[in-house]
Amino acid sequence: MRILSGIQPTGEIHLGNYLGALKQWISLQNENECIFFVADLHSLTVPYNPKTLQKSIIEKVISYIAAGLDPEKVTIFVQSHIKEHTELAWLLNTICPLSELERMTQYKDKAKKFKSNINAGLLDYPVLMASDILLYKSEGVPVGRDQTQHVELARTLARKFNQKFGKTFVEPKDILPKQGAKIMSLTDPKKKMSKTDSSQSYISLFEDPESIKKKIMSATTDSGKGIKFDPIKKPGISNLLTIYSLLSDKPIKEVEKAFKGEGYAALKKSLADLVIEFLEPFRKKQKEMAQREVYIKEILTRGKDKAQRIAEITLQEVKEKMGLI
Ligand code: TYM
Repeated sequence: MRILSGIQPTGEIHLGNYLGALKQWISLQNENECIFFVADLHSLTVPYNPKTLQKSIIEKVISYIAAGLDPEKVTIFVQSHIKEHTELAWLLNTICPLSELERMTQYKDKAKKFKSNINAGLLDYPVLMASDILLYKSEGVPVGRDQTQHVELARTLARKFNQKFGKTFVEPKDILPKQGAKIMSLTDPKKKMSKTDSSQSYISLFEDPESIKKKIMSATTDSGKGIKFDPIKKPGISNLLTIYSLLSDKPIKEVEKAFKGEGYAALKKSLADLVIEFLEPFRKKQKEMAQREVYIKEILTRGKDKAQRIAEITLQEVKEKMGLI
């Protein structure tokens, strides 16, 4: 299968990004043709600092490798290096109903969050994402739950284009983890963990142990007692149990059993130790990779060349089918 996915460069990669997306990328890389990129053009739609963006883009590539992507097996590139992404986005714009974009949950959330900067890019964001996916005729898109609506739009646009202009695109499918598709915020477990919220609400993949401990120990939990998985009545504890289960590779039932009769603090303390231990190799690899700038640039040049070859062919085909010269 051809697999494709991306992460925006702004903000830090957190446990939610890892458990929802990156972890899947890593397990898919052995059996599939994988293309992963840094979605820098998407990140321009919300307030950001142009002075630090370049650094953040490189840091994301380092994070991918530190988390376990093997640059010898997968293609890694930066979205803005392949101009075909924006060109195809324009062409897809012409077949995308405005109403589809206006009903997107993420658009509505971001328009609320960034009231003073509701730019056209924010609305058009899912069309660029459809372009990312369709340009490479991707079959599978490993993402967290918040992105499924966008992948669905990519599928709708592929179908629409094929009907109108003849079979061109593959209809992509999202690939969601069975557990962990929506990791919740540590400070407000009714909201998803997000890098645009306060840093207290998430754990970065490269966070130092002291800080991990502090954040987990002060994570918002629920009233009452008892360590029980119940996302409606006990969203805080259920989120911590999910993270525990995924990082320890133990079913939630087993974790519940292990903490039977214990208080919330015992679970938190044990989870903090588990997260610290789990992320230790990530921190090490990240430090090592941060010293290898030439190697990282080489990976990106190779990735760009490979992606470019596929992108050019698809775009040429699309333009011809649409009647352009
Ligand atoms: P982004 O950068 O917001 O998030 C990257 C990936 O992490 C997943 N994710 C989560 N999973 C579980 N729990 C959470 N709390 C959580 N928060 C984030 C996201 O679902 C995503 O998979 N638009 C995309 C980037 C993108 C893309 C693409 C992805 C651009 N073009 C094409 C796939 C294919 C985004 O902003 O992801």
